[in-house]
Amino acid sequence: MNKDNIIKLLETIIHPAKDKDIVSLGMVEDVDISADKIKFKLIFPGRDPLSESLKKRCEDLIQSNYPDYKVSILEMIREKKQNKALMVEESFEAISGVGKIIAVASGKGGVGKSTVAVNLAVTLAQMGYKVGLADADVYGPSVAKMTDTEGSVPEVIMKDGGSENGGTDLIVPIERYGVKWMSIGYFARPEQALIWRGPMACNALKQMILQVEWGELDFLLLDLPPGTGDIHIALVHDIPLAGAIIVSTPQAVALADVEKGVNLFRNKNVNKPIFGLIENMSWFTPEELPDNKYYIFGKGGGEKMANKYQIPLLGQIPIVQGIMEGGDSGLPAVLTQPQVREAFENIAHKLGL
Ligand SMILES: Nc1ncnc2c1ncn2[C@@H]1O[C@H](COP(=O)(O)OP(=O)(O)O)[C@@H](O)[C@H]1O
Ligand SMILES: [Mg+2]
Repeated sequence: MNKDNIIKLLETIIHPAKDKDIVSLGMVEDVDISADKIKFKLIFPGRDPLSESLKKRCEDLIQSNYPDYKVSILEMIREKKQNKALMVEESFEAISGVGKIIAVASGKGGVGKSTVAVNLAVTLAQMGYKVGLADADVYGPSVAKMTDTEGSVPEVIMKDGGSENGGTDLIVPIERYGVKWMSIGYFARPEQALIWRGPMACNALKQMILQVEWGELDFLLLDLPPGTGDIHIALVHDIPLAGAIIVSTPQAVALADVEKGVNLFRNKNVNKPIFGLIENMSWFTPEELPDNKYYIFGKGGGEKMANKYQIPLLGQIPIVQGIMEGGDSGLPAVLTQPQVREAFENIAHKLGL
């Protein structure tokens, strides 16, 4: 095996926005093969929304062809034009026109955070607001599936000449149900597990939010990944959040994690308001016994937690089969089930909308 083999492989990777392979685009440099390692540089002429996914594709391709080697790709930005704008300034510019950015967070996965974020986004859109949602759960993106937009490939447009000419490349969100959606899920095959290292995940996440042509929005909801780790800290620092909504189930375990979520926004370096708590899966009501409520995850957990942290309880959402089915089919339950819609409208009202 030699350098040419590697180059040949990389020639099969097409940059989707430029319709040319990455070798012809001059993006591959310094291919180096040692006893157990294949190394090269992947050069980008500017910030590129597709950089993470391209790098990942290179890695996967070479690794699958040469499983005995370690693959190491050094991603570099080499700007052609002088463009001294700070990342942060650029970031703000990239999302001008976007009103309030609201993080939807939970300490724990599986509490229905994405379900709540998607249904709330659709409800706000139905109420007449301009809404976008960025699926910032780079490890387990589910928004594409929940909105039946899986397989959609966002267009990339070049603003002010594009990144090669000192401008920026922006990703165009996918519109459905009156909401603009963006997810890392649009850039990777759905069955592919997304297990990335911290900094990479963090970059991808910022791109999903900042390098998007959102247009005019009243609200941009962020479906955060579960947890309170580095990604979250980087995010609450770098994204101009208006505040957060916390989602939890009534279970004590979930609540212990939610406390960490609250502290993430309340710590003195971050200090963002928490608009409230949404208790999900509060009770179960079987269709044949509509007056019965079974509190299978315990009763009153959300209320206790809301009192303890002086956060408004925005609403309680029951366990409804249609909510789960809506998530699976990609048709959010607020569009088909009046009682679910009402629950979410009440939450919006509690938010003052
Ligand atoms: N209120 C609810 N009633 C029924 N199923 C729900 C409800 N909330 C969430 N689910 C289901 O629970 C699962 C986990 O929800 P999800 O939104 O993906 O959680 P998270 O984003 O917190 O990991 C999904 O299958 C979803 O359809
Ligand atoms: Mg989720």
